[in-house]
Amino acid sequence: MSKIGTSIQQAKEFLERGGLVGIPTETVYGLAANGLDATAVLSIFEAKKRPSFDPLILHSTKDKIFQWAKEVPESAQRLADAFWPGPLTLVLPKSDDVPFEVTSGLDTVGLRVPQHDLTLDLLSQIDFPLAAPSANPFGYISPTKAEHVEQQLGDAVSYVLDGGACQVGIESTIIGFEDGQPVMYRLGGLTQQEIENIIGPIRTHINQASNPKAPGMIAVHYAPKKPLLLVEDFNQVTDDEQTAYMLFGEKLDVDSNRLFFLSEKGDYYEAAAKLYALMRELDQAPYTRIVTKKLPNKLLGPAINDRLFRASVK
Ligand code: TXA
Ligand code: MG
Repeated sequence: MSKIGTSIQQAKEFLERGGLVGIPTETVYGLAANGLDATAVLSIFEAKKRPSFDPLILHSTKDKIFQWAKEVPESAQRLADAFWPGPLTLVLPKSDDVPFEVTSGLDTVGLRVPQHDLTLDLLSQIDFPLAAPSANPFGYISPTKAEHVEQQLGDAVSYVLDGGACQVGIESTIIGFEDGQPVMYRLGGLTQQEIENIIGPIRTHINQASNPKAPGMIAVHYAPKKPLLLVEDFNQVTDDEQTAYMLFGEKLDVDSNRLFFLSEKGDYYEAAAKLYALMRELDQAPYTRIVTKKLPNKLLGPAINDRLFRASVK
């Protein structure tokens, strides 16, 4: 039997038995388990080789998701109304039912309603939320197709629900609240401007082990196995035959078979949707390194640059 398919019934049965199931979302594929079953949740960490201090996000439908929060600030409610289902995660005080295995011991929990018909259908048929990190081995490139999940986590997953290629292609934007004020912890599929249009100016506190509020945001992440060089200007690079280029809205004067486009016409949304699949493809192709350049700081540019930077960290 193939592990990849579109049967919601299959996915549901595996989840009810404590198994792990790959689920499609608009951002990236998730590695899902029953979020109220501590044992199932721990098996996610094991399958991904994920450090236990990196908390998971709970996914559910719009009508159920806030059960898992103890309180919902008014601005969180406004963001939920504006963007769910969609690429937004809200970090809120957790309800008592949420196991500390999900939150890595924190009193807060990340909550999200993903925008994907198959997964929303699945979520509407179960009475527990799905704990789901991105379905990649820890540190490697996030999966944006069902086959990526199968290729990398094959033995650990019972089933992968195939929802096609992810439309957004980078992870959700994460917003938390400190002393009642909204704070952005991770750049993602929604821009800062889109968030601020709804709730006004927000602070950002991205990254790093030094930021205890976003424990998972360690520097090396989303990384291919071969070196990825992130430059300000392609003139900085000494070209050779083994170098592949990831380009955005410009051409370079080298053999065209070594040029790969995030977006030929400079479309930020196309670039985000292609980013991880292209890094994966180049990681497997016979080049010794990948060279790319920072995108302009517009629209999804900062979120894509954040991924490129982490992919380039040694
Ligand atoms: O788009 C997404 O959010 C995808 C899909 C599958 O929904 N999920 C995802 O999960 O990116 P993951 O595990 O790769 O990233 C979750 C991150 C953690 O690394 C951490 O930075 C943040 O969410 N997070 C989760 N719970 C948190 C909490 N209670 N406080 C602060 N940050 C939290
Ligand atoms: Mg991840």
